[in-house]
Amino acid sequence: MAKRIPPEKVEEIYNAADIVEIVGDFLQLKKRGTNYFALSPFTNEKTPSFAVSPSKNIFKDFSTGKGGNAITFLMDLEGMTYVEALKYVADKYNIALELEETYEEVESKDVRDSLYILNEWAAKWFNRQLTETEDGRKIGLSYFRERGMLEGTIKEFMLGYAPDQWEALSNEALKNQFNEEYLVGTGLCFKSDKDGKLLDRFKGRIMFPIHNHLGKVLGFGGRILDKSQKAAKYINSPETEIYHKSKVLYGLYFSKNRIRDLDQAILVEGYMDVISLYQNGITNVVATSGTALTDDQIKLLKRFSKNVLLIYDADNAGINAALRGADLMIEQELAVRVLLLPPGDDPDSYVKANGKSGFEAYSQEKSKDFVEFKIDHLMAQALPNDPMAKTTVIHEVASTISRIPDPVRQSVYVQFTAEKLQVAEPVVENALRQALLSKAKNDERQARFDKARKDRESAQNSQLQIGKSPPANDYPPDMPPLEVLYPEAFANGETAIVTPPREIHSTGLTISQERELLRLLFNYPSAPIKIAEGRVEGQEVKDYIYEGPLANYLIQELEDMDFDDPVLNKLKIQVTEHIAQKGTIDVNQYLSHQGPDMISLITELLTIPIEVSKNWEKYDIKAPKMDENLDDAVYSAVMHFKLKKIKQLLKETHQKIKENQDLEKLDDLLKVYAHLNNLKQELSKELGIVIHQ
Ligand code: CTP
Ligand code: MN
Repeated sequence: MAKRIPPEKVEEIYNAADIVEIVGDFLQLKKRGTNYFALSPFTNEKTPSFAVSPSKNIFKDFSTGKGGNAITFLMDLEGMTYVEALKYVADKYNIALELEETYEEVESKDVRDSLYILNEWAAKWFNRQLTETEDGRKIGLSYFRERGMLEGTIKEFMLGYAPDQWEALSNEALKNQFNEEYLVGTGLCFKSDKDGKLLDRFKGRIMFPIHNHLGKVLGFGGRILDKSQKAAKYINSPETEIYHKSKVLYGLYFSKNRIRDLDQAILVEGYMDVISLYQNGITNVVATSGTALTDDQIKLLKRFSKNVLLIYDADNAGINAALRGADLMIEQELAVRVLLLPPGDDPDSYVKANGKSGFEAYSQEKSKDFVEFKIDHLMAQALPNDPMAKTTVIHEVASTISRIPDPVRQSVYVQFTAEKLQVAEPVVENALRQALLSKAKNDERQARFDKARKDRESAQNSQLQIGKSPPANDYPPDMPPLEVLYPEAFANGETAIVTPPREIHSTGLTISQERELLRLLFNYPSAPIKIAEGRVEGQEVKDYIYEGPLANYLIQELEDMDFDDPVLNKLKIQVTEHIAQKGTIDVNQYLSHQGPDMISLITELLTIPIEVSKNWEKYDIKAPKMDENLDDAVYSAVMHFKLKKIKQLLKETHQKIKENQDLEKLDDLLKVYAHLNNLKQELSKELGIVIHQ
């Protein structure tokens, strides 16, 4: 049985969680007015539409509709589970959870967690082998010393040594109660082909734990010590449940704050380069782990800065890697510069020889904007006096420019290229047009391919649906299936209904009355309102039928009426009970007791007015001040809702009258019908006054 986080703790965590601080750990936030904005981490947008409201303690991503609080932000962005997110925040604010784990609990936890725990243990074990054993010190530590690694650096990056034996780690791990399944699952060990024996993957190597940007150890890279050996220079963890090398940037955990502060990331090729630059004070540095740069890695990096300096070796492999990587980054709106080191140098050797200031001076002088770099490189390769060379270069460069999403930036580069190659601008423009055309064709092909795949996947998904599928908005957007969110609730073999995520159309202008009522309730629960019946414009009201907090009026009016939307109805019932018990509602505190699905729904309700004004402001239209007169807004919303209910009842009664065979009953039904009809007339009249004032 996994332990739960007690409700008081959850509340404490919610109270501590500062949305600006937590989001700020992952995105570059800029203050505008009372809110903060950032580029949406979920899309490739150019203008920031990701908003954080410190006063409401929520975020809203206008480009995707996602919204929530600090906890759901971590779930959305980092793919954490609800409990993982709570633990993350607890950890950040030093809230002790006191969740003592017994051995069985470690066992029964989900697999990913177990793999993390094992990797963490292994990293520490490798580090102890390096610093505390005779072999480790003699072989591993002396190697690191030779390469100038300081003790503090070794400790910070948790570098280690894997003894040159087949079963050193596996024996020790088994002794410490880690089971075979996880030793294989992390890739730390493998089963021998011959006899199925458990063997260590890393032996006689210095070890680099690979942390994700949150500091969890996902896998390892192990470097051979003796270059003359025939074995591969590096052995890396295989792809596992937790390690996907195409999604990780080595060093990001250590460098992310610095990257954000300096608004620049340095991308290098090797583990040693990262560590060496870092040790020498150049700390905004990351590397891929022996793979070509991927879109996922760029997306990850982009959250911290959109400026990247690529540092590659001056050999062909390095230059080609730079050319490929930069094209991908440009497509994702990054500003890319390239720095080639002198032949024979890598960042590690260069910074060791020249220090931080030497390195920075060199970079200042020699780094080039990517387009310029590409032109220079291609021209240098061309044969002298080859008339075709320029043509080829123009087409190559145009292909890069065509990847830039912003047309303004495109034309700046066209101008630059024409000048640099000394050709007329229309020549480059023409090449660009051709490149754009062929890119459009490619993109279209890709889109068709993606769509086919999506269709296939959603066909598979819909087969998962069990029983009748609920209305589309029965399920908050982008949430994991309920079984995943609430494993306890589905422990005895029940299955949740899986629905495809719904589209969100919360422009604020088309929201239902039910949403509008809850929207008012959550935005202004304690606003004092005064309600008078049958008001006439311009006439002073003397008698109020209600004076008091908004929320209490609403629940009093709506208590006996069901909402049609089952999810909104559930929320209504919950809030009604809550207010009945506590007499009032504190929204933040209320949220702390909700599951992530409700949080997401309530956040949507909380942000509707912001959305309205934002959309309108874009077109320089003044936003409708829908909440200026709360008394009327509330009264009108309640009356509209009642009117809708009465219309429904009328319809039902009408149907009953038609089907009725019993004369005595008919009389009653007709009376009911007449009464309802009266109410309808009254309400309509009333609403006419409210609406048209
Ligand atoms: N790499 C790999 N497998 C290899 C060689 C390299 O996975 N056989 C990856 C590693 O992630 C390595 C990176 O490619 O960090 C760059 O290689 P290299 O420059 O050779 O490695 P460094 O980390 O710089 O190591 P060193 O300076 O000790 O040679
Ligand atoms: Mn190197």
